[in-house]
Amino acid sequence: MRNYILFYINGKRHEIYGEMAFRPLSTFLRKDLGLTGTKIVCSEGDCGACTVLNAGLNDIENGKLRYHTINSCIKYLHLCDLKHFITIEGIKDKNLLTPVQSSMIEHHGSQCGFCTPGFICTLSSMSDDCVLDKKLITEKKVKNYTTGNLCRCTGYKPIINAGMNIDLKNYKTLSQRYHDSSMIEDFEKHSQVPVELTGVNKRLFIPTSENDAAKYLSDKSNQCKIEAGGTDLGVVQNKCHGMIIDVLSFDLIKNNNKITKKDNSFEIGPRATWSEIEKALSKDFPEFYKLIHVFASPQIKNAGTLVGNIANASPIGDGIPFLLVGNASLELTSLQGKRMVSVDKFYKAYKQMDMEADEFISKLIIPIPSKNTLTKLYKISLRKDLDISAVTFAGSFVLENNKLSNIKIAYGGVGPTVLRLKEVEQALENSPFELASFEKILPLVEKEISPLSDHRGSKEYRHLIAKNLMLKCFHELSSEVRS
Ligand SMILES: Cc1cc2nc3c(=O)[nH]c(=O)nc-3n(C[C@H](O)[C@H](O)[C@H](O)COP(=O)(O)OP(=O)(O)OC[C@H]3O[C@@H](n4cnc5c(N)ncnc54)[C@H](O)[C@@H]3O)c2cc1C
Ligand code: FES
Ligand code: FES
Repeated sequence: MRNYILFYINGKRHEIYGEMAFRPLSTFLRKDLGLTGTKIVCSEGDCGACTVLNAGLNDIENGKLRYHTINSCIKYLHLCDLKHFITIEGIKDKNLLTPVQSSMIEHHGSQCGFCTPGFICTLSSMSDDCVLDKKLITEKKVKNYTTGNLCRCTGYKPIINAGMNIDLKNYKTLSQRYHDSSMIEDFEKHSQVPVELTGVNKRLFIPTSENDAAKYLSDKSNQCKIEAGGTDLGVVQNKCHGMIIDVLSFDLIKNNNKITKKDNSFEIGPRATWSEIEKALSKDFPEFYKLIHVFASPQIKNAGTLVGNIANASPIGDGIPFLLVGNASLELTSLQGKRMVSVDKFYKAYKQMDMEADEFISKLIIPIPSKNTLTKLYKISLRKDLDISAVTFAGSFVLENNKLSNIKIAYGGVGPTVLRLKEVEQALENSPFELASFEKILPLVEKEISPLSDHRGSKEYRHLIAKNLMLKCFHELSSEVRS
């Protein structure tokens, strides 16, 4: 058993013992190491001022680590085991500015400078990816990478110009600059040993097997909270200090981020991140891929998991409507063994799931739809990027001889859980694929949902959006079917 967390920062090794493991990485960087280049503004993962890069054993490509951005304000040290972090202080190449830094200066990408370290880290991750994937920088790419970074005074145009004019020919990747096989060996050696660590009144367990995880959970004295990427729980911990006192992490269970394509389904491990899923599912699930594109920001997608989204059980969780209409199922594991539950039957009431306190999600299975299945997914939010949904929609239909069958419709943000609209589905079943069929069921949509008013929209707005999405679905599908 190991009683410490091990990570590297800018190439330097750190062992973390006891209470220290329950601090956010951003606080550790600034207060304990004096690396004050990393800024803290929102402490909620929303602004990107605290962006750093990280990589671990799951990020090895051609023997080297490939680095991704994360928000260090919501990354607690107990989730940092066996990772290498690069902060703004580690970006500069010896005492020279990198092409990213030079471009920010040349294009006036900084005024007060508070957001600048975060932007530099993000643009360095984009430059690494472009060089490693042999891709060019485009305006779209710069905008996509920087959706998780806010600037309050420069204005985005100069920052985008800076991003587009990075001299990639003279850019040395962080993977090249920081490659250290002894660090990877250190990680591999430590990944065989479980971690059990205690703070003043907190505990952490990182087992290396599902069985040990199940044993820990079965001990009812544990007030245990499972943490995956910590993008939901990190915010909770920052807002309600000390609420989580006993953490179980699956980070050392081998292959638990694996995404495997079988004959007619995908099997997804509980630690597969949104970014990994976005890449793996792009061809077989184009609608889900489009939805993931507007999910959160790169920093959140590089840390957060789809399984965490499912288990967070929010009625506006963006991953859930698609899984409900797509016949997805969950493998739940406990000391008693394994059982399967369909995502459709998983949610009982607000934040209540068909999952016992001693069970955890060990796998998500998503079937690949048949060729004649049509799917549409929508997310309505106040702004396109990095925003929480007001209403979400998922529709799945089989279309044969201009007739609709096997209809599944789900909405989020209009009830205590994501809802299947069973009466609407029945009314549409075997209807002709025409506008009149969809218009006819709109009163039923109104009847089956029960939205509330909040700062994201009034209940009247949500009713209207829900009906409009049904019509949008018809219009988009009919133009796709015709083309
Ligand atoms: C800035 C920001 C933007 C966001 N944007 C969006 C968005 O656009 N759409 C959206 O839907 N969400 C969004 N989120 C919420 C969050 O990122 C997602 O819900 C994410 O998928 C959570 O995954 P995680 O791995 O970080 O979960 P964690 O925070 O680690 O855990 C979430 C919950 O899942 C449970 N859990 C995790 N793994 C398991 C398991 N294997 N078995 C059982 N229980 C488990 C945990 O106990 C916890 O209750 C955002 C969050 C932030 C901070
Ligand atoms: S401080 Fe705003 S994202 Fe971390
Ligand atoms: S330069 Fe001031 S916040 Fe961006």
